[in-house]
Amino acid sequence: ISIQRDRRLRRTLSRDLAKKKTFPALYNLFRQGFLQSNEVHIFGYARTKMTDDALRERIHGYLSQGKGAEQTESLSKFLQLIKYVSGSYDSEDGFRLLDKEISEHELAKKSRPGTSRRLFYLALPPSVYPSVCKMIRHYCMNQSHLSGWTRVVVEKPFGKDLSSAEDLSCQLGELFNEEQLYRIDHYLGKELVQNLLVLRFANRFFLPLWNRDNIDNIQIVFREDFGTEGRGGYFDEYGIIRDIIQNHLLQVLCLVAMEKPVSLKPEHIRDEKVKVLQSVMPIALEEVVLGQYDGYKDDPTVPDGSNTPTFATVILRIHNERWEGVPFILKAGKALNSRKAEIRVQFKDVPGDIFRSKKHGRNEFVIRLQPSEAMYMKLTVKKPGLQMSTILSELDLSYGQRYQDVTIPEAYERLILDTIRGDQQHFVRRDELRAAWEIFTPLLHRIDDGELQPISYKPGSRGPAEADELLSKAGYVQTHGYIWIPPTL
Ligand code: BG6
Repeated sequence: ISIQRDRRLRRTLSRDLAKKKTFPALYNLFRQGFLQSNEVHIFGYARTKMTDDALRERIHGYLSQGKGAEQTESLSKFLQLIKYVSGSYDSEDGFRLLDKEISEHELAKKSRPGTSRRLFYLALPPSVYPSVCKMIRHYCMNQSHLSGWTRVVVEKPFGKDLSSAEDLSCQLGELFNEEQLYRIDHYLGKELVQNLLVLRFANRFFLPLWNRDNIDNIQIVFREDFGTEGRGGYFDEYGIIRDIIQNHLLQVLCLVAMEKPVSLKPEHIRDEKVKVLQSVMPIALEEVVLGQYDGYKDDPTVPDGSNTPTFATVILRIHNERWEGVPFILKAGKALNSRKAEIRVQFKDVPGDIFRSKKHGRNEFVIRLQPSEAMYMKLTVKKPGLQMSTILSELDLSYGQRYQDVTIPEAYERLILDTIRGDQQHFVRRDELRAAWEIFTPLLHRIDDGELQPISYKPGSRGPAEADELLSKAGYVQTHGYIWIPPTL
C-alpha cells in the first residue's frame, strides 16, 4: 500500500538507536511499500566524516537480511536512498550543506520547489536539541507555507526534571509549533498498548468493572534480564525512574486509567491523559522501594559512589471518583530474573465466597505487552471430574496462536509511519510531559540529593525483597502455584 507521496526523510544519527530501531524500522516500512524509492530520501547527519557508501555499509550491517534474491534486491534499493552529510550540531555551514543536499535531491526528483516534506529525526542527547532545532529552523525548513511540511521527532530524555523539561519545551516551542513536534515514546507504538483503548471502551465486559468497586490494585511492570551493559554512562545520569517509569510506564498508566475520550481525535485522547496525570497525588516515600543490582558500579563508566537506582517500585494513587483507594504499582528493573512487560489488573475477592476458592488466588486480567503478546484472564472454574472442587484456570488470547499469519509491527515502524502521516495520537503533548514530570520531580530530587539510597539486589533475582513486601502491603495477593505458560504453536 502506498500512502505516501513525495516524502523526504531526514535523520541525524545516533548509533545505538539508529542501529537497533530506526534503520530497521525504516527498512521494514520500505519493504512493505510505505516508503517509495521515487519519493523518499534519507539523509544521515552527524559529526563523523564519512562517505555515503561507508554509511550504507554500516547500515547494511545493522539490518538483518532475509534470504533470497528478492530481499537482497530490496535491501540494496533501500541503501541507495541513503546519503550522508557531516557537520557539527551548531554549525551554520553543516546545516546549509544539509539543506543544499536535500534541495538538490528535491529538484532532481522534479518536485515543485517548496513542496517538500521534511522529517527530521533527532536521535541525539537533549543538550544539543535547542541548537540543532535552531539550525533546522533557520536553514533547513520546507520553504512553502502552502504545501509540504517540516516535522521534528525528538527522543527522550526530554529533560531531567520539571524545570529542565520546561526549559527545553520553551526553547523548542519558540522554534516549532506543537503540530510540528513529535515527542516519541516507543511504548505507545506497541501493539497491546495501542489495544488498550479498544479493549476498555469497545467491550461491555470491562465497562462496569473498571473501577474502585471491583479492582483491588493494578500493576504495570517492566523487567529486563540484563543490566546496563554498554549504556552505563547514559543510564547513571538518569536511572530507572527517568529511563522507564516516568515515560513508558506512566504512558501505559494513562491509557489504563483515563476516562473515555470524546472521540478518537488525538487532542481528545491527549486531553484525557493529561486529566488523569493531573489527578495523581504526590508520591509518598513509604510507597517507594529503590534498588541497585550488585555489580552495577563495576561498569567503568559508572561512578564508584553512584546511588542511581536500577530498580524501582513506586505506588501512584489517583484522586478521582473512579480510582480513589486503588494503588497503581509501577515497577521496573534491570538485571532481574526475566524479561517482560505487562499490566496486571487484580480484582477484589468475591464477597460471600461459598466455594472457599479464595485460597487459589484472585481474578486477574493480565495484558502481556512483551514478549509473547497476550491477554489472559485468571478465573476460578470447577475442576473437571467427579468432585465439586475448584481450580484456577484462564481464558487466554495469545496473539502468536490466534493471529498466526500476522506479523506484529515493531513500535518504531508504526510511530515513524504516524509521523509521516501527521497523526499525533501516539505522541506526547507538551502539557502531558509537564504533568508527568510534576509527578516524579520531588522524588527524583530526593534521590539526586542522596537522601534516598537504593537497596542492593542480586542480578537475576526478583529485585529487593522490600519491593514484594510493599506490594503485599498495598493489597496485592500473589497467586502461588499458578504459572501462565504461553501456548506453543
Ligand atoms: C528504552 C530504555 O527507552 O526502552 C531502555 O532507554 C530499555 O533502557 C528499552 O531497555 C526497553 O524497550 P523495549 O521495547 O525492549 O521494552
